[in-house]
Amino acid sequence: MVEHQRRPGWAEVEEFLSQTLVHGGPGMAAVIESIDAAGMPRIEVAPTAGKLLMLLARISGARRVLEIGTLAGFSTIWLARGMPDGGHVTTCEFLPEHASVARRNIDAAGFGPMVDIRVGAALDTLVTLDGGEPYDFVFIDADKANNVEYLKWALRLTRPGAVIVMDNVVWEGAILDPVSDPDAGAIRAALEFMGASPALDATAIQTAGSKGWDGFAIAVVR
Ligand code: DHB
Ligand code: MG
Repeated sequence: MVEHQRRPGWAEVEEFLSQTLVHGGPGMAAVIESIDAAGMPRIEVAPTAGKLLMLLARISGARRVLEIGTLAGFSTIWLARGMPDGGHVTTCEFLPEHASVARRNIDAAGFGPMVDIRVGAALDTLVTLDGGEPYDFVFIDADKANNVEYLKWALRLTRPGAVIVMDNVVWEGAILDPVSDPDAGAIRAALEFMGASPALDATAIQTAGSKGWDGFAIAVVR
């Protein structure tokens, strides 16, 4: 009997795309090793998504980035790589243990002076940023329950033309079955907020790869 050839799947295609296009460099592999070494969850953005953040920051000409959810600094470093000279990243992390891993990774990658890590609940940090210079780019990737609040803060802390990106907007499709998971309900509410806000032009793209089935929402502030 002829053996059926196995079709490559999403994860293998993702691996090919990463190897072929992303070229993260040795610093990025070290970040992943630090996540495993610290026993932190492997929920960082995929390399292809990290590079997308860098490219979106660069395409939009962002100089000031706000990130909500640092984890080990993987996406933070990608965002910092998208900054011009004089650019700045403020990143909010709830857990001090995660923030110290991120600090080491960001410093080792050479972006220490560019990145300010604020430890504590992001909603407490965001209020302290009010009235400062506006941000050009916001990446939201923290506790999903607060996504709508984070979007409201993103609108408050940005200028017209700023870009807002939100991770995990598909959540394995659970957004259509939100009773099963309170995070799914919060993510869906954030998408509905984006779609209904007259201050935002928004869309989303689904992703399927090393992180399963998920997606990014992308919006521009009017
Ligand atoms: C989880 C959080 C994330 O930001 C992510 O990208 C994937 C998973 C989580 O909390 O499970
Ligand atoms: Mg995420």
